Amino acid sequence: MVNHNLSTAAGKVILLGEHAVVYGRPAIAVPVSDVRATVEVTPRSPGSGVLIVAEDINQSYRLDEACESDSARALQTTMRNTLQHLGIRAEDQALRVVVRSQIPIARGMGSGTAIATALVRALAEYFGRHLISQTISDLVYQIEIIFHGTPSGIDNTVVAFEEPVYFVKGQRADIFWVSEPFTLLIADTGIPSKTRAAVEDVRRRWLADRLRYEALFDEIGVIADSGKQAIAAGRIDELGQLMSRNQSLLRELGVSCQELELLYLAALDAGAKGAKLSGGGQGGCLIALVDKQTQDEVASALRAAGASPVISTVVR
Ligand code: MEV
Repeated sequence: MVNHNLSTAAGKVILLGEHAVVYGRPAIAVPVSDVRATVEVTPRSPGSGVLIVAEDINQSYRLDEACESDSARALQTTMRNTLQHLGIRAEDQALRVVVRSQIPIARGMGSGTAIATALVRALAEYFGRHLISQTISDLVYQIEIIFHGTPSGIDNTVVAFEEPVYFVKGQRADIFWVSEPFTLLIADTGIPSKTRAAVEDVRRRWLADRLRYEALFDEIGVIADSGKQAIAAGRIDELGQLMSRNQSLLRELGVSCQELELLYLAALDAGAKGAKLSGGGQGGCLIALVDKQTQDEVASALRAAGASPVISTVVR
């Protein structure tokens, strides 16, 4: 048995297709490997139980403690489910589990998903077991269902595989080929994106006007399909146009906001090939597709328009 372990998981952004993916349309997500969550598992003295320490938010609690916050309960449930999956009795363990993350919280970048994924990996490694990516993804999905309403499963999939994925709810992840690497700037509005609330808002509107919303989801699905082909063929300009078209449909779905629109205009004015919100929306991050010539100018324009931080990532 290994008795010390540190595992990580990447952040993510949705390149095309969020929200519509909840209704069975395809979407594309890519990992953001530059920002990561880390979980370290070390032994404690026998009989002392399991202590979870969330360093960034200055919280620590026992595995068997009744916690109020969703994030604490999500970690406790992830841990219990993972140990159960591994056939290990939680009550017999004496562990210190330290959680850290560089991924901005509640910005549509998969911070909670990455922490849960790193935790599953760290526990498996600690007990000398190998879990395939699909199993890790499935374990994390169980937690997302409990704590995040009606998730499509795209977030846990892209984070567990840490590869670009073309995703349709209920189907196996399709990991696809990026023929020409491209650069995204991820610009934080500073406003929390509450994915669950945004998904619920869209559901209310869909229930009130199914015809209109189904048509919007269809259009978004077509964009995601075209995006996959554009990426596979290295047609990066086309990908940018698809992102901007996707943004206008997200606006129609009611999940954009003034701050995101400001960043969107700033990015396009400064020469981005395309831009859109990413994830739940109503805050969170804008992603902008740039090339070497425009990258610095777009990043400065985004900062001048209020984004902080602006992260750059290469999708390959
Ligand atoms: C969140 O990253 C993406 C959404 O489509 C929700 C989901 O797919 O579960 C908004």
